[in-house]
Amino acid sequence: SKPVTVSSIRNAKGREPLVCLTAYTTPVAQALDEACDLLLVGDSLGMVVYGLDSTIPVTLDMMSAHGAAVVRGARHALVVVDLPFGSYQESPGQAFQSAARILAETGCGAVKLEGGAVMAETINFLTQRGVPVLSHIGLQPQSVNALGGYAARGKQAAEAEAIVADARAVADAGAFAIVVEGVVAPLAARITETVRVPTIGIGASAECDGQILVTEDMMGATFGHVPKFVRKYADVGNVMREAAKAYAEDVRARRFPAEEHLYGVPSPKVAAV
Ligand code: KIV
Ligand code: NA
Repeated sequence: SKPVTVSSIRNAKGREPLVCLTAYTTPVAQALDEACDLLLVGDSLGMVVYGLDSTIPVTLDMMSAHGAAVVRGARHALVVVDLPFGSYQESPGQAFQSAARILAETGCGAVKLEGGAVMAETINFLTQRGVPVLSHIGLQPQSVNALGGYAARGKQAAEAEAIVADARAVADAGAFAIVVEGVVAPLAARITETVRVPTIGIGASAECDGQILVTEDMMGATFGHVPKFVRKYADVGNVMREAAKAYAEDVRARRFPAEEHLYGVPSPKVAAV
């Protein structure tokens, strides 16, 4: 099917829900590409792939390497790469430098950055200069040190109003879609009604214009805490554990390798000639 573009994502509002997942590597991108509209190379890779405690230490080099790997595995889905903490918050100019590097080095179609009204000037700067931006509002993991945790947002009326204002600000600034993370369900629905661009929910509401999950969470391939909003579609972690056990038994019993895996042993057919 036709490759998904930034415009087709933007125009999906009010149509079919957008199907989005994270990917960090070529083989995972190849496996998910057909089913998905958008593959996000999330800075969640810091925790999921590198075992870090938060996304704060993730670097532009890491995002560039994994972004390029995912682009090599995606033929259909739009690939979006997260700008990591510290690579865009200082100024629109800094954000442009980082985004330009990511676009050039990975071949991805857009970047994502966290922040609402405070990032509007930067989003406008980037989108006016050829960098499509996916926004990310509500719970913002890169602000964990300022906010003191990953609790859901928008329970208090004042906070909910501020998040609606964030959604308006980033949409007006030119974001082609908005990830809405970890907000109470009625607020996610209200944001979705308010803005003209699609909302992509995670821990938000089924009324968002699309959904995203961290692939390893929904595949059962992570071993730590899995958030309440995740539905588990597979148990890949257990499949890997069982495969390792079966291999261990074969090696210890000298059942592996077998004849068919060996070099330098004439096959029966060749021996017969
Ligand atoms: O880093 C990430 O995986 C994300 C998604 C969860 C939205 O930002
Ligand atoms: Na992220």
